Order: sequence, then C-alpha cells, then structure tokens
Amino acid sequence: MIIENLDKLKKEVLAELKKIKDAEALEKLRVKYLGRKSQLSLILRDLKKLAENERPKIGALANEIKEDLQKAFALLEKDLKSTSKSTEDKFFDLSLPGKRTDYGHLSPLTQIEYEIEDIFISLGFIILDGPELESDYYNFTAVNMPANHPSRDMQDTFFIEDWLAESSEKKNDERLRLVLRTQTSATQVRAMEKYGAPLRLISPGRCFRHEATDSRHESTFNQVEGLMIDQDISISHLIAFLKIAFKGIFKHEVKLRIRPGYFPFVEPGLEVDVDCLICQGKGCQVCKKTGWVEMLGAGLVHPNVLKAGGLDPKIWSGYAFGIGLNRLAMLKYGINDIRLFNSGDLRFIKQF
Ligand code: DAH
Repeated sequence: MIIENLDKLKKEVLAELKKIKDAEALEKLRVKYLGRKSQLSLILRDLKKLAENERPKIGALANEIKEDLQKAFALLEKDLKSTSKSTEDKFFDLSLPGKRTDYGHLSPLTQIEYEIEDIFISLGFIILDGPELESDYYNFTAVNMPANHPSRDMQDTFFIEDWLAESSEKKNDERLRLVLRTQTSATQVRAMEKYGAPLRLISPGRCFRHEATDSRHESTFNQVEGLMIDQDISISHLIAFLKIAFKGIFKHEVKLRIRPGYFPFVEPGLEVDVDCLICQGKGCQVCKKTGWVEMLGAGLVHPNVLKAGGLDPKIWSGYAFGIGLNRLAMLKYGINDIRLFNSGDLRFIKQF
C-alpha cells in the first residue's frame, strides 16, 4: 500500500515540476513535497511504526525517491536560473555600433620603408640589413673616413665603452671598437665584401647621433642607403633611378634639383632636392620659402670605398645615396616634428 503511494507521489511531483515556470513556484512545490511536513518526510519519520519486515524495503524506496526528487528540483532550479539570465542577454539592439577591437599597425616609418623596398626590389635591388652596433671600421674608415679625419666631426657619434676590448691593443683596433652606427653607409663595404660586383642594394635601418634634439633633429633616426655598382655608372643612372623611386613614393612626377655637396665616400658628391610637396614649389614654411626640399645625399662611389670593398676602381664604378626616412615620411604625411616618431604617443600613431 505504502509502496504504491510512494510511486504515485513521485509521478505526481514530477508532473507538477513540468508545469513550473519560475523560482517562486518551484520553492512552494519543494516545501509541499520535500518540506518537513511533507508526506515523504512523514513516511520516513514514521518508519519505526512499520512492521519490521517492511521497514528496510520501504525505507530504501522512500529515500531513493527523496533523492530523485531532490535532483529533479535542483536541475529545474539551475535551468530556470540560466534561462532567466539568457533572456536578459537575448535582447540586443542590432542598430547599436559594435565594440571595435584595437589592432596595432605598422608605424609610418615602416610603411614608407616597405614602399621604398618594393620599388627597389622591382628594379632588381636586394634589401640588406646591417648591425646597429657597428665597428668603427665599417661605419667610418671603410667609407673613406679614416681616424682623425675632420669629416668625422660631421657626425657626433655615440662610442661604446670597450666591453669587448679589454687589452689596449684591441681598444686601438678599429674593427673591434664599436659605435652606434651613425649612417647606413656602414653597410656599403660589408655588402661589397660579401657579394662583390655588380651589385644593386638598398639598406634601410636605424641610425644614431648625439644630437641636440629639436623638431628636425632626433638622436635616433632612420635612413635608407642605396648602392649600385657596375661598369660605366654615371650621375645619369643615379638621377634616373631616383626619379623612378620618388615617383613611386609620391605617386606623381617630381622635379629634382642637384647641387654639389661633400660626403667623404663619394666623388663627386651631390645633394638632391625635390620640389616642395607641401606648396608645389610656391614657397612655404617647410621649404623655407625656396620651393625646394633637401632630400638626400648622393654621388659616385669614391675609389677608396671600392678598394676597401675589394673592387678594382679601374673596372667598377657606382653610385650611392642616403635618404633620411623620417624626412621623407614627414613630407609625405605632413608631419611637422621628427620627435613624434619615437614618442609612443598614440594620438600620433593612430593617424596612420
Ligand atoms: N651617410 C650620409 C649621411 O648620413 C648620407 C649619404 C650621403 C649617403 C651621400 C650616401 C651618399 O650614400 O652617397 O649624412
């Protein structure tokens, strides 16, 4: 009799549970069927009143049913909680703007460097890296700037303490003495030694000088070196290649103005100006009202540099140039202070 009742009770509770829609109704049902005064609790409490042979069987069944029901209640409770939460979440306004993830991107200097690389690769040039921590030899002596030569004064240099060279013999060895390279020209002789001639390369990278910083000078800056070595190279080759490069960078034809300039590693040495992109040659702040902006140094490779690279100047000739990348980026993007590049200021960086 009791056994049948218990089974019936279980079915009844499970059926009622199915109708429950909220936590409050569930709680009421729990009190009714599992509370202290519930039928089930009474049966369990009064087990001792039963005949001894019935007791274990009924006791076990009642406990089993109690556990089953407790589980069913817990399950439904969990269900109700999660559905009530997800109905809150479910409503969202499709017309609201989404949350955008911030991605990093290449700095304007790197962007322009890659553009230049693409142009020169298309002209058959290779891209070469050189070390930023460079030997005195490659940075200066190899490019015709021997020790104590006044031309070294043009570049205020960071010399590195002799942590590599303990003995004074080593200290005096310019191949071991280290500097933070002052110019990408340092890769010229490295390249000649490694690849010989003919040779077409550009070598972009960071350079360092002990500058008093202002809107046009910064102690860390970027250059791109260009070097082409072959037979019978002349200034015409240089001009032709530069015109192609600038057209690629600025997306229109540029005028070049060539002036004599002194750089120890070229003879003749030239300074190359382009017509001011800001005012189209009319005269503005950037071009100091001249209509021209100084863009790079260049020239025909000095015989001493070819010799240092193991090439015979009677056979080989070449041109070289060095572009200040910051300058170029400033002109292309209209940036008015060189210190912005390394400032880490996101208001600046995010504009590119
Ligand atoms: N290295 C020079 C500088 O930093 C720039 C330069 C001038 C590079 C003339 C060249 C060159 O290759 O031919 O001022």
